[in-house]
Amino acid sequence: MARIHPPSLAGALWAIFAAVLLTQAKVFHIPAAVQNGTSTAEFRSSASGLDGPKVHPINSSAFDWWYFDVVSTDPTVLSSVVVSFSTAPYSALPLLAPSNSIVVASISVSFPDGTLWNATSNGNGATVTVDGDGSRGTWHGTGFSWIGSPASGYLIKIDAPHVNVRGTITFSPVAPAHYPCGPIAAGQKLEVGPRLGWANAVPDANSVVNLHIGGTRLAFKGSGYHDKNWSDQVFTTHIASWYWGHGRVGPYSIVWFDFLDLTGTEFVSAYASKNDKIVAASCTPRSIIVRPTGRNATYPPVLSSPHPSGYHISLDLGAREGSLEIDVTVLANLVDANPEYARFLGNMSAKLVPPSGRGKYLTGTALFDQIKFAQ
Ligand SMILES: *[C@@H]1O[C@H](CO)[C@@H](O)[C@H](O)[C@H]1NC(C)=O
Ligand SMILES: *[C@@H]1O[C@H](CO)[C@@H](O)[C@H](O)[C@H]1NC(C)=O
Ligand SMILES: *[C@@H]1O[C@H](CO)[C@@H](O)[C@H](O)[C@H]1NC(C)=O
Ligand SMILES: *[C@@H]1O[C@H](CO)[C@@H](O)[C@H](O)[C@H]1NC(C)=O
Ligand SMILES: *[C@@H]1O[C@H](CO)[C@@H](O)[C@H](O)[C@H]1NC(C)=O
Ligand SMILES: *[C@@H]1O[C@H](CO)[C@@H](O)[C@H](O)[C@H]1NC(C)=O
Repeated sequence: MARIHPPSLAGALWAIFAAVLLTQAKVFHIPAAVQNGTSTAEFRSSASGLDGPKVHPINSSAFDWWYFDVVSTDPTVLSSVVVSFSTAPYSALPLLAPSNSIVVASISVSFPDGTLWNATSNGNGATVTVDGDGSRGTWHGTGFSWIGSPASGYLIKIDAPHVNVRGTITFSPVAPAHYPCGPIAAGQKLEVGPRLGWANAVPDANSVVNLHIGGTRLAFKGSGYHDKNWSDQVFTTHIASWYWGHGRVGPYSIVWFDFLDLTGTEFVSAYASKNDKIVAASCTPRSIIVRPTGRNATYPPVLSSPHPSGYHISLDLGAREGSLEIDVTVLANLVDANPEYARFLGNMSAKLVPPSGRGKYLTGTALFDQIKFAQ
């Protein structure tokens, strides 16, 4: 499928979906109430369905979650937006606010000067239509919806006057989708850590954000990202801590995941692409190493550890390209509501270390988060 450029993205995506809807699409209706009984979660990929619901039904220990963000590519401008669509009871995902509905849409933004704003809307049910690896999601009663696919890109539409926000966000992909251990294909492992599913539909995109928040406009272009994660177990069951993030540094689009389970075992997922081709996509131990840096750096982190001032990332790019040694510096705290979860915007400086010859310095921006549950 041809890549669609931002001006025509909205119309083209709706047209593509309308055309295939009657033939191949599968439609899932997800009720707003938590369901009884056991949930079945997918942890092995099929030939398609990357961005579809992965847990059926959502019982009180299960969650399914679609995540989108855009971060400014200019480090002097602190603009960002995060939109998430979840079907998740509080009992399964205690980082969310308690709610009667498990169907929740939320948005958090940072304005160019770093000022923060967020809103949450509870829905009365969700419909997700799956076509190939793409999907379309409507969180009924929230005014939030998305449509798209890893190949053609995504569009988020928000018409939510009850929480003072409306507008659109587009994602034109510049990096191929991947699963935790490699490129997308049938039969791939989907666990990025024990019983935590992860599928990264859009590791990097040219995004255009056009939002009206109350009387204020937030409009910027940046590096966009979309993934989904899920489990049939309560979120806190297996996680001691994790570092996740994505960004664009020089010609590379990168995604990192470095996770510790309760036994101290480290699980990683490394991703880098260049010119819309995957350079590295691996879950092999030490294919990526992410460690906190700065005066307050503590590894492994525990609940009482203060935030680090950044991270050092070593990312193996394979025999042909060498490796990237990346320093990420926190420029803004985007979420700092509790000690368990923090989200940051930052800049990166990297040294590309080729197998032979001289290194090269690269710069960029990133959006990243940190979880710590260990005492
Ligand atoms: C789950 O079971 C409880 C207790 O039997 C019942 O009250 C509730 O309606 C059930 N929920 C659903 C969604 O079926
Ligand atoms: C939900 O489903 C999972 C997976 O089958 C199961 O382990 C768990 O016990 C179920 N939770 C409840 C509350 O029934
Ligand atoms: C899902 O993934 C996003 C980005 O990878 C992350 O910010 C979020 O915390 C994750 N949520 C869950 C419930 O795994
Ligand atoms: C280190 O943590 C302390 C306590 O949380 C904080 O006051 C201080 O600003 C932090 N220092 C740096 C360099 O981040
Ligand atoms: C949303 O904003 C409120 C303040 O208006 C703040 O207390 C809360 O932590 C923010 N939540 C997130 C997820 O950023
Ligand atoms: C981040 O940007 C600041 C200036 O805004 C610069 O001083 C710093 O060296 C940069 N850090 C990295 C790791 O690129």
